[in-house]
Amino acid sequence: MSQRRILVTSALPYANGPIHLGHLVEYIQTDIWVRFQKLRGHDCRYFCADDTHGTAIMKSAKERNIPEETWIAQMKEAHLKAFTGFQIEFDHYGSTHSDANRELCGSFWQSLLNADLVVEKEVIRLYDPKVGMFLADRFVKGTCPNCGAPNQNGDSCVQCQATYDPTELIDPKSTLSEATPEKRPSKQLFVQLEKLHSFLDEWTQEPGHLQTESANYLKNFFLKEPLKDWDISRPGPYFGFQIPDRKDDYWYVWFDAPIGYIASTKEWCDANGQSYEDWWKNSDTEIHHFIGKDITYFHTLFWPAMLKTAGFTLPKRIHIHGFLTVDGKKMSKSDGTFIEALTYLNHLNPSYLRYFYASKLSANDGDLDLNTQEIISKVNSDLVGKVVNLASRSAKFIQETGLSETYPEDGGLFQQASAEGDAIAEAFEACEFSQAVRRIMALADQANQYIDQQAPWKMKKDPDQAQALQDVCTVALNLYRQIIVYLKPILPELAEKTDTLFNKPIEHWEDAKTPLVNQSIQKFKHLMTRIEEKKVNAVIEESKQPEEAPIAGGEFQDSAEPLEKEPLSETIEFDDFMKVDLRVARIVEAKEVPEARKLLQLTLSLGGEERRNVFAGIKAAYEPEALVGRLVIMVANLAPRKMRFGVSEGMVVASGPGGKDVFLLSPDEGALPGQRVH
Ligand code: 2FM
Ligand code: ZN
Repeated sequence: MSQRRILVTSALPYANGPIHLGHLVEYIQTDIWVRFQKLRGHDCRYFCADDTHGTAIMKSAKERNIPEETWIAQMKEAHLKAFTGFQIEFDHYGSTHSDANRELCGSFWQSLLNADLVVEKEVIRLYDPKVGMFLADRFVKGTCPNCGAPNQNGDSCVQCQATYDPTELIDPKSTLSEATPEKRPSKQLFVQLEKLHSFLDEWTQEPGHLQTESANYLKNFFLKEPLKDWDISRPGPYFGFQIPDRKDDYWYVWFDAPIGYIASTKEWCDANGQSYEDWWKNSDTEIHHFIGKDITYFHTLFWPAMLKTAGFTLPKRIHIHGFLTVDGKKMSKSDGTFIEALTYLNHLNPSYLRYFYASKLSANDGDLDLNTQEIISKVNSDLVGKVVNLASRSAKFIQETGLSETYPEDGGLFQQASAEGDAIAEAFEACEFSQAVRRIMALADQANQYIDQQAPWKMKKDPDQAQALQDVCTVALNLYRQIIVYLKPILPELAEKTDTLFNKPIEHWEDAKTPLVNQSIQKFKHLMTRIEEKKVNAVIEESKQPEEAPIAGGEFQDSAEPLEKEPLSETIEFDDFMKVDLRVARIVEAKEVPEARKLLQLTLSLGGEERRNVFAGIKAAYEPEALVGRLVIMVANLAPRKMRFGVSEGMVVASGPGGKDVFLLSPDEGALPGQRVH
């Protein structure tokens, strides 16, 4: 088998929060695939980095009152701790906020300019006057312009699925400051993706690059119509890289993030005497990106367009996975199912989760459910009950003597399991890990049956059976080790302990083809303990966080503006309030006052024959005819005021700033003219 050169990446996690079990689906999946390729003897390298730019990171740093650089350094340390804890082994882990990345961004940019793909356009964007910056889509909320649902995001509505520009939102609010954003013109740079339409059509539809479901989705959704220009610059202040020759423009985070894959490779190459171009501008390299389905668009349209334009090798495959649910539901902080990697590690062995995810993962982008009962039963019955048990119930009988000198007759078991290696390898290669696990567990079942039939614990009692016992244990231990070769990409720690047990490391997939003989064995030490339900519960308990206290009636997203414009008055005593005699009144006549622009003249009835003449500034808001007959509230004991057109004997109460925005108050049905309001 010839050696392949394979470059693998996982999506760069945002340097803006901890790694949780949802992230780990991807990193564990990628790590297993990479370890598998390495075990097969390929020149495979795994690169990743923190994704460090953009408004979300600025916001976090600002909230903590620290520079962005300090915040992203803290995040990187926490991320690496989590990854190391789960035995995710990168060849290099960089940061998009690096010199290597800045330089590479510059050269990608130059290529886009040279290819005449960049245009400048003036767009209207929302600007937060309090914070002093333009707002990214996700920092604006407001009412959906399509269906009127309140509290929707800046770019799309969860109620009606409409997508829109944040400037179309009704009553928008900045989530950074609660201020009402202003619409301001901004000159921005765009990449004209449409110019690459036919290339993208071909590339995405060529078999092998994407899973069929993703290729179809792109074809039916995005590639059916002209591709929109991609808005690639952001006005300052922005935490990112400034665009050369542009005074106050920065590259949008999604421009520099994927270039971070190359920058991370370059840092590794520089440290290891290699050239990054040998990896990225070389058709002999297979590039594999692992991503979640939420970022398909960026990796299947923008990224290939950028690579193509800048003369880099295109990915051989983009592996797209689904999301994680826990016990069938979206991860939730209040249920304790939003589990951070480090919280899990406080209580449980990372191998449990690696094994569980492997047993559930396949090559499609369906969601994966972490069922707490299922992980307990899988780990305890498969891993501990079947696999580890093979070693524990045979190693202890032959420690001093070691393995037999020649491999004993085993009824063809080792040979069969060795032949199964190709099918298992194919499953790993195709990211069908659940299938690989099923096949491996079937081998473990066979090996256990063998031990059950031979019953070495009985042989132990009969000194005449010493050789037979050694032979049986030699077979059992070899079958165990063979299984561990296959499981090594999933369970590196168990593989290491097995190396120690046999005084011999597993170095290659092919090690599953040759049994060990005449080999000393270490004293058996336990390899893995059972998973305890109480520890799973402890993880959930530790993860429980109260939901942010919901604001009462939060579903009614009323604007804060009226109160902001006119704050509440000083507190008064009840008696002060009672001085104002508010009464229900009926408008019995309403007419315009020709000489007054804003006023209507109203005749109010307080019941019986009590009438009041009132001038009210509501002409712009109400037609006089529409008012006749309706009930209003009036201040009945206001001192009469002499006006140009007559005497006003009270006042009707209304809210609003004036002009068209005036709203008369009315009592509910049943109220009677003359009744006091208190
Ligand atoms: O979606 C995310 O979490 C992004 N930080 C992924 C970036 S992947 C790559 F393009 F850098
Ligand atoms: Zn809507």
